[in-house]
Amino acid sequence: MSRALATSSTRQTHPLPAGLDPARLPAHVAVIMDGNGRWAQRRGLPRVVGHRAGVEALKRTLRLCSDWGVGALTAYAFSTENWNRPGEEVNFLMALFERVLQREIEGLEREEVCIRFLGDLEPLPLGLQNLIAKATARTAAGSGIRFNVCTNYGGRAELVRAARRLAQRAAEGELDPASIDEQCFAAELHTAGQLDPDLLIRTSGEHRISNFLLWQLAYAELHITDVLWPDFDGEALHAALLDYQNRQRRFGGVDPAP
Ligand code: FPP
Repeated sequence: MSRALATSSTRQTHPLPAGLDPARLPAHVAVIMDGNGRWAQRRGLPRVVGHRAGVEALKRTLRLCSDWGVGALTAYAFSTENWNRPGEEVNFLMALFERVLQREIEGLEREEVCIRFLGDLEPLPLGLQNLIAKATARTAAGSGIRFNVCTNYGGRAELVRAARRLAQRAAEGELDPASIDEQCFAAELHTAGQLDPDLLIRTSGEHRISNFLLWQLAYAELHITDVLWPDFDGEALHAALLDYQNRQRRFGGVDPAP
């Protein structure tokens, strides 16, 4: 990838495509960026080339979400299970995250993106941890789109961590177990204080949640597309948002009377 997120503060913004209702956009979109490896293999290229192209797709999606008025984007960059990939691919991904962060930090700041990394960051290489801390601090006051990058993230691990933290507080006499409710539980998750995703997009046609945001996706609308992640573009995002706007969200209730 050669282009930084923004080369100028006067960059061209993308207008909302016709047919989308600006008042009914999801406030928070989550994405499972699947299909990088297959995208590369279909071209006779090494899998890692697909990951590089995946970064471009992520930048494109972040910029479009920001321009179109989506308040938050959460991307599944590396799961707790992804350590099981061949060592070479894991090392490539870690080095790629570092390179991308280093290069994009300035553009993210300039575009008022507020970036956060969700997951257990301690096992990540130290250089990456340092960059994450720097990017988080430098963009913390960003008033634009919130961009969550799930890195060494697992939904079950997140739930266990929350349960352990609550148990610890109860054991210390700071918390009455009977007072633990959904709000109190959610406050112990990596996403504390954020709205739940309204829409989950999964690329490459797989119909799975893959341990992603198990708590937060409780009422999300799911959009599965056959598009492989590196090919995910404005047209694919437009289709996902149209699909979302055609859903009736009932949150367990019933449709209002006609
Ligand atoms: C899934 O495709 C993709 C990943 C595990 C990595 C995604 C990472 C990026 C797009 C880079 C993000 C970068 C930053 C800095 C946030 P796959 O390898 O599972 O594809 P396959 O299912 O075709 O094998």
